[in-house]
Amino acid sequence: MKKIMISTGGGDAPGLNAVIYAVVHACYRKGWEVYGSRSGYKGFLDRDEMCRLRTEDVEDIYATGGTILGSTNKGNPFEMPVENYAGEVKVVDISEKILDNFNRMGFDCHIAIGGDGSLEIAERFSRMGMPVIGIPKTIDNDLEATDRTFGFDTAVSTATEALDKLHSTAKSHDRVMVVEVMGRDSGWIALYSGISGGADVLLIPEIPFDMEKVCAKIMDNELHGKNYAIIVVAEGAVAAGGEVISKGGGEVGRSELLLGGVGEWVAKEVRERTGKDTRSLVLGHLQRGGSPTTFDRLLAMRFGAAAVRLVEKGTFGHMVALKSPHMGSVPLADAVKSRKKVNVNSDKVYTARDIGVCLGD
Ligand code: F6P
Repeated sequence: MKKIMISTGGGDAPGLNAVIYAVVHACYRKGWEVYGSRSGYKGFLDRDEMCRLRTEDVEDIYATGGTILGSTNKGNPFEMPVENYAGEVKVVDISEKILDNFNRMGFDCHIAIGGDGSLEIAERFSRMGMPVIGIPKTIDNDLEATDRTFGFDTAVSTATEALDKLHSTAKSHDRVMVVEVMGRDSGWIALYSGISGGADVLLIPEIPFDMEKVCAKIMDNELHGKNYAIIVVAEGAVAAGGEVISKGGGEVGRSELLLGGVGEWVAKEVRERTGKDTRSLVLGHLQRGGSPTTFDRLLAMRFGAAAVRLVEKGTFGHMVALKSPHMGSVPLADAVKSRKKVNVNSDKVYTARDIGVCLGD
């Protein structure tokens, strides 16, 4: 008999519940017990924040968005802000306490479902001796060690559907619509949705953009009788020689930095330089919501089942990873080393260029 703890950390992504479903079912068939820790590591600190997960507790959840366990991107146990009675906030390291509780409660493994930040935390616990298995989650698809993360396909579908809808209103009003999508320092969501959603201009962090080139494309559209345009801009895209636009909260390159604002900045520049009626919108957290696509459900369930197989083999300190068509694993230490960027010399980028999409360069 084994006792497993699952946690979901960082920003949520469609497919989290499908992973939980698969882990609970795969463990049940082996006669193992599964517990969930609410909001990241809370269940490791407080029994009220820990719940037993039986098959009946996860019935049908695979089709739902969000996470039944809750999540947080402010729960790093190595740097936890704690307020004392005087209202002063101190940053403390509570990792030893968490490890101690985990061992005392008799857990055999912690399955940590997370993106870059949460997996870095899991890797630190693994180095301290906690048996950990990581599962890669993020709509940004920016983990180098796996071909895909679950959540990405759903986010891209949502963004593509939004672009489809924007075409008609942009055309009716002869407008330029600028759509800001998520993705942090990687342009995956922008690239996939921009090509599939018929964008005229596609701006990604991997290619610094020039507003002259962007505006030239819009004016070229006009010359050819197309009086509207759709611009897709990734939240981390940067003008050549410019800086990342953010709302603060952390350093550039860190997951705490709250990105946002580049879409409005591009819209303002287009308006001033071309005189075109221009509007911007931020798709934001819509991309993280909703029921996971079939692709994401299946990938999430494959990850969950593969994680349980790793527990059985005792391959701790690893993250499950898709290396198509195979499901494998990589050491957590390697998994958190680098972020996956769009290769600017790859087929999808060539496709965008070949079909006339301006990439701002
Ligand atoms: O990493 C996932 C992500 O959705 C990013 O694309 C985005 O920048 C960030 O999370 C937003 O996080 P928050 O939940 O703090 O708004």
